[in-house]
Amino acid sequence: MELRSTGSGLERRFARSPGREIKVEGRRAMDAREACKRWRGCNIAGQFAAGVARRAPIERRGTMEKRMPPTPQPGIMEIALYQGGQSALPGRDDVIKLSSNENPYGPSPKAVEAYGRAAYRLHRYPSTDHLSLRTAIAEVHGLDPDRIICGVGSDEIIHFLCQCYAGPGDEVLHTEHGFAMYRISALAAGATPVEARERERVTDVDALLAAATPRTKLVFIANPNNPTGTMIGGNEIARLADGLPDGAILVLDGAYAEFVDGYDGGVSLVDGRDNVVMTRTFSKLYGLGGLRIGWGYGPQGIIDVLNRIRGPFNLSQAQLDAAEAAVRDREFAETCLAGNRRMRAWLAEALAEKGVPSDTSCANFILARFADEAEAEACDAWLKEAGILVRKVAGYKLPHCLRITVGDEAACRRVAHAVGQFKDARA
Ligand SMILES: Cc1ncc(COP(=O)(O)O)c(C=O)c1O
Repeated sequence: MELRSTGSGLERRFARSPGREIKVEGRRAMDAREACKRWRGCNIAGQFAAGVARRAPIERRGTMEKRMPPTPQPGIMEIALYQGGQSALPGRDDVIKLSSNENPYGPSPKAVEAYGRAAYRLHRYPSTDHLSLRTAIAEVHGLDPDRIICGVGSDEIIHFLCQCYAGPGDEVLHTEHGFAMYRISALAAGATPVEARERERVTDVDALLAAATPRTKLVFIANPNNPTGTMIGGNEIARLADGLPDGAILVLDGAYAEFVDGYDGGVSLVDGRDNVVMTRTFSKLYGLGGLRIGWGYGPQGIIDVLNRIRGPFNLSQAQLDAAEAAVRDREFAETCLAGNRRMRAWLAEALAEKGVPSDTSCANFILARFADEAEAEACDAWLKEAGILVRKVAGYKLPHCLRITVGDEAACRRVAHAVGQFKDARA
């Protein structure tokens, strides 16, 4: 019997000799189990070991190769893969990661405990309605739990919004330096992403209103924005919501809303209108980026629509339990907020003293500005040499900037020191 797989472009041939002995590529003899171990990742391997392998004849596969290749939906091939923050440097185990706006203090110990407890119930399907988590969020933020939807990160809520409200011929508006997922999710829905310029790295409501057309179905603004760290006030957001064409939804992305003292993330704007939705995340303040939990809050009609395409088991019980424990642990959240407040001011000042300015940040990162792209690139390389990872943001049309997450005190001191050394070396 002869088997052939072209699964990964790599052709392998198994020629089976009598009994369980197998020759691989005509060179070596081994038993079936061993051969299958080497053919890792291919389902046929297990079946083959059991002696039940069945494959389409090679001639038929030849015919299939002549067929028209499957064509993805319009827009999909325009999507550039999302670039996450680098997390490791080869050969170094003392790396400081300031590239993904994570919580330097980690998750709440209560969230970790809840996650651990969930391990004993892995055989059970999770809740489909997320009632317990929605109730906790509603209690903490003073919201109606029925108008909350939970997702696999707020990314999933952004995705639901685009899938439900935008399609071919529609436009999805976002700001010049807006979060990458707005464009990705718009394209995935077949819609056209449209960009409105910002004013000195700040959302410009006039530019957004000027760019809105009857085709505009969604307008995304992050407030505070990533990667700029800037934000606009409630009156400006209200002016935007009220000036949009009929049928357009304003999405207030509040991934960093918790870091702004006294800001409700737009709750009052959502409550007073039928065209505003707010998204939030457990990835930043709550230190659960690795677990993927986010939520949205909006008019009942919109939340009901989004729930129609939400997978019934989109969140695991471990995600739900950890998030609930995290949002209820106000003491831990307050400690993290205080740390961010203190170190954000310190870092901004320390960098400014070294000749690296930044806009006043309302989030848990600082957008450090350099003279030009070459200097930003050189500083990034210098920091890597020092074992520090920050985020290059050329993809956000800010090639002369580096986004630096506000770490704990040790991390902030180390990055400020390294940037200072870099500037001194170039003076
Ligand atoms: C502005 C903004 N919105 C949304 C997200 C997505 O967050 P998550 O999917 O982790 O909840 C991020 C993550 O970096 C972000 O910066």
